[in-house]
Amino acid sequence: MKRRYAEIAGWGMYVPPRVVPNDTFVTMGLDTSDEWISSRTGIERRRVVEADEATSDMATKAAVQAMAVAGLHSGDIDLIVVATCTPDHVMPATASIVQDRLGMLNAGAMDLNAACSGFVYALATSAAQVESGRARNVLVIGADELSIYLNWQDRSTCVLFGDGAGAVVLRQANEPGIMGSTMGSDGSGAGLLTIKGASRVRASSNGTPSGSANGHEKAANGAAAADENYLTMNGPQIFRWATQIMPRAAEQVMASSGLKTEDISLFIPHQANERIMKATAKRLGLPTEKVFSNVREYGNTSAASIPIALCEALSTGRVDVGDYVVLSSFGAGLSWAALALRWSVPIPSHVAPWQPIQRQVASRMAAVRSVLRRGERSVRTRIDETLGKGEG
Ligand code: UT7
Repeated sequence: MKRRYAEIAGWGMYVPPRVVPNDTFVTMGLDTSDEWISSRTGIERRRVVEADEATSDMATKAAVQAMAVAGLHSGDIDLIVVATCTPDHVMPATASIVQDRLGMLNAGAMDLNAACSGFVYALATSAAQVESGRARNVLVIGADELSIYLNWQDRSTCVLFGDGAGAVVLRQANEPGIMGSTMGSDGSGAGLLTIKGASRVRASSNGTPSGSANGHEKAANGAAAADENYLTMNGPQIFRWATQIMPRAAEQVMASSGLKTEDISLFIPHQANERIMKATAKRLGLPTEKVFSNVREYGNTSAASIPIALCEALSTGRVDVGDYVVLSSFGAGLSWAALALRWSVPIPSHVAPWQPIQRQVASRMAAVRSVLRRGERSVRTRIDETLGKGEG
């Protein structure tokens, strides 16, 4: 049987309009400076969501662009994977919300949490679905808004992160596309980078049927639980580990894909810190012009950092058909992942004038279909209730 491959056929990104430059932290009264932040991290500004903007909102906007570039209809998508550690809700999955907004009626939908490594994990997992023939087209999104989990009084973390989303559409191809991938995790380092507020915290603060806490304990633990909702990080330890694991993962995936350093046209590392990226490039023997960086503009956008970087690399002419591109990421877990690909589709030099209109029409139609489905569900429920009452 003919072997199937997966290739990226569409891409899109979204960042919130609100720009927060480094000086804002000084104005807020934090003991920091633009000089410290930019020299230690390379970050000059980041984007931050407004109060009413959720992860699914950003994810949907990036996905709409990716679908337009791929030239696919919503019914063509078999699976949606949203890589995020800041979902809209514990449940339902953010991917299901995106699925509804885009009217992707034939698509399965799931979230994947591997923190900042999430997008590369999702891309590798989705490529396997396409290569095996289980899915023809998969929408893969990386979207995070870590700003809502930041302690804005903690200078060691709040200056580092930003919000955003990036998406790609994977489709079947006759040639590789995605060449190889590697994923890894070392949970012994889980405590180095956390947002703790989930079942571990709730079990101890709210009590359970077998050991419920009294009102006083609940109130005290509730305050603790609020603290647990903040992102905490041991920056220096993550830094040291990242400079080891990013190049190692990249080397692994290059070896398994039959690529040498000199074959690589562009290396897209997780955008966390310019110093980490430089140290990684040095270890790999890559010249800086082959390493993509936009951390200056967006800070660390977690699962969105690599797809946003990929979109900007494409729109600025840094990738051409036939180029070998390596992605490498690290993050909480600890987790890491790398992926090698051969760029295989032409890159449109401009957006066709009808595309924004086409996108608007498509999303309005999806919204109408969604309203109709909700209406149908509520009518059915009423009929069932009425019939049920009649039987009783
Ligand atoms: O997606 C994965 C996410 N995480 C990362 O990638 C983080 C990896 N780590 C890093 O990027 C770096 O460790 C940081 C940027 C977080 C910190 O840089 P560093 O060079 O490792 O600094 P440090 O933590 O060793 O701190 C040096 C000093 C300390 O003061 P003292 O103890 O020397 O007096 C910090 O308190 O800098 C201080 N400091 C700051 N000063 C001004 C920490 N944050 C700030 C700040 N402004 N924002």
